[in-house]
Amino acid sequence: MRVSDPITIRNKTIKNRLTMAPTVKFDYAGADGKATDLHIEHYRERAAHGCGLICVEATAVSPDGRFGPIHMGLWEDEQIPGHRAITDACHEHGAVVIIQLNHTGITTRPEMGPAIGPSAVPLRDPEALSKAMTIDEIKHMQELFADAAERAKKAGYDGVQLHGCHSYLINQFISKKTNLRTDEYGGSDENRARFGAEIIRMIRERCGEDFIISIRTPGIEPDVATAIAVAEEYVKAGCDYLQVSTGIEWNDPTVTEPDGPYNAVCSLGVRFHEHFKGRVPVSCVNSIFEPGQVRYLIENDLVDTVDLGRAILADPAFCEAVLGDKPYVKCFDCPRCQYGPGMPHKCAAAAVRAKQ
Ligand SMILES: Cc1cc2nc3c(=O)[nH]c(=O)nc-3n(C[C@H](O)[C@H](O)[C@H](O)COP(=O)(O)O)c2cc1C
Repeated sequence: MRVSDPITIRNKTIKNRLTMAPTVKFDYAGADGKATDLHIEHYRERAAHGCGLICVEATAVSPDGRFGPIHMGLWEDEQIPGHRAITDACHEHGAVVIIQLNHTGITTRPEMGPAIGPSAVPLRDPEALSKAMTIDEIKHMQELFADAAERAKKAGYDGVQLHGCHSYLINQFISKKTNLRTDEYGGSDENRARFGAEIIRMIRERCGEDFIISIRTPGIEPDVATAIAVAEEYVKAGCDYLQVSTGIEWNDPTVTEPDGPYNAVCSLGVRFHEHFKGRVPVSCVNSIFEPGQVRYLIENDLVDTVDLGRAILADPAFCEAVLGDKPYVKCFDCPRCQYGPGMPHKCAAAAVRAKQ
């Protein structure tokens, strides 16, 4: 296998094994949640430099599920045209483009709305508890995800990715730490996965057979075996592509730093690939900053695709460095990339590129 080999996910052929990880740009959206010219150029540039699949950043399915007051959304039709410009820009350069859909759930900031989730659990202030969603509220939330997916389809996306990790709502349902329910949405692996799995089924029903449905899911929650059991439920529901990252709890002595040139987070994707091989494509992510790391993972059949976060933020031409040995500016792995409202996005690598 080579990095330049195509891969088919659903009916879409992705021209190589390089995927852009969802990476939110806080300072790009307006308060109306619409995509801006900055977004369009940001994704166009990465598509133009050869990235096979672009996963557009976490996008809110409702205003109260945003990361902050200026976060991109797909909760109303007026937001579709901005996304259409992003998909056109990516398609012009031959990239397949999907969009990550999210709700922050119990991590919602107070000014955005109430902290709702599977159960009433302590928030940052141990005295304050989140609000447990009723069954009606769960069904309504699932509709919001499906509505946003339909808008994504209208905007020209080739598919969607559910944000099922990094402590947000879908992840809160699968974690036993945040999901204490005793009804059909809590308890067994199947029940805790039901919230996400039902959303997958709704999206398939509404968006059709041609639409990629991916989920970004923890490779460990709290251990790898449980995370795989949950992912099996997503696959049963019709998920086409698993992107593996981290979740809420990490408690598995079997996960150690691997021998290869990649780290333990990335090794979770490798473990998933071993399990799902031949059934569902799997990607890995985290601290992949050098072309040799990407080639190692693909050429040794350790994953199907490699998800690039900071490497492709640092240098939009990183994919050309992997595919064609071209020079690139390596991510400095510096704290400036920490994302959060109000954080300055001053990329050290971008500063180096600006001087070249
Ligand atoms: C600026 C920034 C924004 C991010 N936004 C998202 C996001 O919208 N959705 C998501 O699932 N992960 C997000 N992440 C996590 C990345 O997708 C990725 O998993 C993480 O950066 C590790 O990969 P890397 O070492 O290649 O950067 C973000 C990371 C960064 C640095």
